[in-house]
Amino acid sequence: MPLTTVHIDRAALRHNLSLVRRIAPGRKVMAVIKANAYGHGMLECASALSSAEGFAVARLEEAVLLRQHYPDHVILVMNPEACANTWSHCSHYRLSPVIHHRDAVKQLASIKLPKPLAPWLKVDTGMHRLGLAPQEAGIAFEQLSANPAIGLVTWMTHLASADETHNPFTARQLESFHHAIRGHSAETSIANSAGLLAWPGSYGDWVRPGIMLYGYDPLDTANDWSRQLQPVMTLASQVLAIRDVDTGDSVGYGNQWKAEQPSRIATIACGYGDGYPRSAQHGTPVWVNGQTVPLVGRVSMDLITVDVTGRDDIKVGDAAELWGKQLPINHVAQCANTISYELTTRLTVRPQRDFLD
Ligand SMILES: Cc1ncc(COP(=O)(O)O)c(C=O)c1O
Repeated sequence: MPLTTVHIDRAALRHNLSLVRRIAPGRKVMAVIKANAYGHGMLECASALSSAEGFAVARLEEAVLLRQHYPDHVILVMNPEACANTWSHCSHYRLSPVIHHRDAVKQLASIKLPKPLAPWLKVDTGMHRLGLAPQEAGIAFEQLSANPAIGLVTWMTHLASADETHNPFTARQLESFHHAIRGHSAETSIANSAGLLAWPGSYGDWVRPGIMLYGYDPLDTANDWSRQLQPVMTLASQVLAIRDVDTGDSVGYGNQWKAEQPSRIATIACGYGDGYPRSAQHGTPVWVNGQTVPLVGRVSMDLITVDVTGRDDIKVGDAAELWGKQLPINHVAQCANTISYELTTRLTVRPQRDFLD
């Protein structure tokens, strides 16, 4: 029997998608399932999310694989390389590439293709990673639209700080986007999860939720919508050993934690070799047999140690949860100085995956 398991609750995925529908009724949903669906399993998640109108991934290879399973969905390749190989694959597999650089516009303005492309044209409204400058967006739109090898173009931009619910930057991005596309009528897409949860002005024709589909709240302050999310992933393990240590004894590599009183330490079969963050600090919560106990000592490759002093009912073989239904992943992420996105995406291949319907 595997000691460490990742449970993926596909009913929770469906619940979170239906929440998206309630938040933004009538909008089309582009479910973001890049990076192996944020570590949850791309094809397994796609099947639970197949009522979405589209799937978004980062890389061409992910999109080609998806197309083999989903002949009719819009499939968006968000970070393609601007080259002939990309365009011919996108045409052949009917994939929508995001056009995020003027080199791509130049190539596509005169390209001939067996089947027309329906690209998304990205405007850089402040993220300054990918996208055309607002002042070059309208001309690019016209150049693309003039080529019969190019079908309908969809406008998009990406929000940099929609998770910060009081940050005026989002409103500035929205204004810049609407100004850039004025006079060039086409469908639009702006909102990521934080946009959906906190910025109704960002919905557009297509919404692009990622993290909220997996049930984790991206907002700096939870709201009535985000409180309804259901976590999809549970990282579960068990207590492998329990020992008593004396005052002054240290636990784990580097003698980083020392007992200030006679203590009872439980060792759990999960470590950074499974994807648990090595940066997790003393005190990071771990759920064991119905109780939340603090991590002590350094995280090692296969094991972590927790302080179960005074919790005499905790015994070898008890269930432990590193994050999931009992323990919000954001609490763990905070203690490890990271974000939920990184924790789920960095799980390794070792824990067994278990998909529940
Ligand atoms: C362009 C784009 N749209 C949408 C998303 C989804 O973002 P989130 O997971 O925060 O909802 C991402 C994710 O990074 C993205 O890069």
